[in-house]
Amino acid sequence: MSDATPTLPSQPISPGPAIPQPGAHGPRRLTLEPPPQYAGAMVNVTNHCNLRCRHCFVFRDGNPNDAEGEMKPDRLLRELRRLRDRHGIRTMLWMGGEPMLRWRLIEVGLTLFQRNTITTNGTIALKDLGPNLTYVVSLDGPREVNDSVRGEGTFDKVMKTISAIPDGFRPTVMVQCVLHRENQHRLEELVQVLLPTPVQGLTFSFYVPRAGEVSARAWESNEEREEAVDIVFDLKRRFPGFIWNSSRSLELLRSAHCRLVTDNCPMQQTMLPLYIEGDHFTTPFCCYGNDVDCDRCGSWGVFSMAAKMGGPWDAAAD
Ligand SMILES: C[S@@+](CC[C@H](N)C(=O)[O-])C[C@H]1O[C@@H](n2cnc3c(N)ncnc32)[C@H](O)[C@@H]1O
Ligand code: SF4
Ligand code: SF4
Repeated sequence: MSDATPTLPSQPISPGPAIPQPGAHGPRRLTLEPPPQYAGAMVNVTNHCNLRCRHCFVFRDGNPNDAEGEMKPDRLLRELRRLRDRHGIRTMLWMGGEPMLRWRLIEVGLTLFQRNTITTNGTIALKDLGPNLTYVVSLDGPREVNDSVRGEGTFDKVMKTISAIPDGFRPTVMVQCVLHRENQHRLEELVQVLLPTPVQGLTFSFYVPRAGEVSARAWESNEEREEAVDIVFDLKRRFPGFIWNSSRSLELLRSAHCRLVTDNCPMQQTMLPLYIEGDHFTTPFCCYGNDVDCDRCGSWGVFSMAAKMGGPWDAAAD
């Protein structure tokens, strides 16, 4: 949705949790009055990417992902400040495309928000942008498994980035692995590779398929996905402290409970997704774009939020 509204004066960020906005999704969120409030937002700061991962939701048809003529840094930052004030946003998740292609823009943008996370493909050196920051570096398995999804040579590039992190580096550095049917049996190898590195923790995010997707990657049902949940539970038991998925979030991923979460998606209600469309931001159905299969969504963000928040899933057993 185009937004030609002039920049509003900066407002103090309102304290307290954002009020969930059931049903407030799609582009109308950016112009609805009164403005829906969101505790957090995610922003694609660029639609450019130096990789073309096979599982990537950003570059699916039907998403705003055109890299031509995208917003200039000054305008992008002005818009983020305006949207922060309009929607009460306190936490920003910086994404793309590859956000580190625009790290100088992000360096300025970090000052706008109370908490910041940059999710990066790890092929560009991490910058020490201060302690108020978490880097989430993407790796999807040991070398050949990762490279079959993220491209030849990417595993070694990312490991080089990780090993170049100097002593005293202030941001938190963690790895996110997108778990799917094809890599679920190779996860321990990734854990073993990462344990001796400066990476502080690892989360597994379960693959979010397109609507109706039938592929080698996508589990056909949440019952079939149970085995992968068991694998992560087992890794968590054996590598406590390093696997950061909470037990509660994993329990909620079980087929008996997961629809209670995804039918009332806490991320959609509390997180504003901002995608670049030419010279303005637009907001798709959810952070994962417009073409998603909610019933089979296993996003780490969704289930870790549900584990922390109250909701219709409260009665689900621990
Ligand atoms: C879209 S990328 C953008 C940031 C950066 N380029 C990167 O790869 O980390 C953000 C995260 O989403 C993950 N991702 C991509 N497609 C996914 C999907 N279909 N389901 C779940 N996660 C996905 C990526 O692996 C990455 O960890
Ligand atoms: S690096 Fe990130 S944005 Fe680029 S294709 Fe891979 S998952 Fe998508
Ligand atoms: S795909 Fe996942 S994150 Fe998106 S609305 Fe559905 S359940 Fe929520």
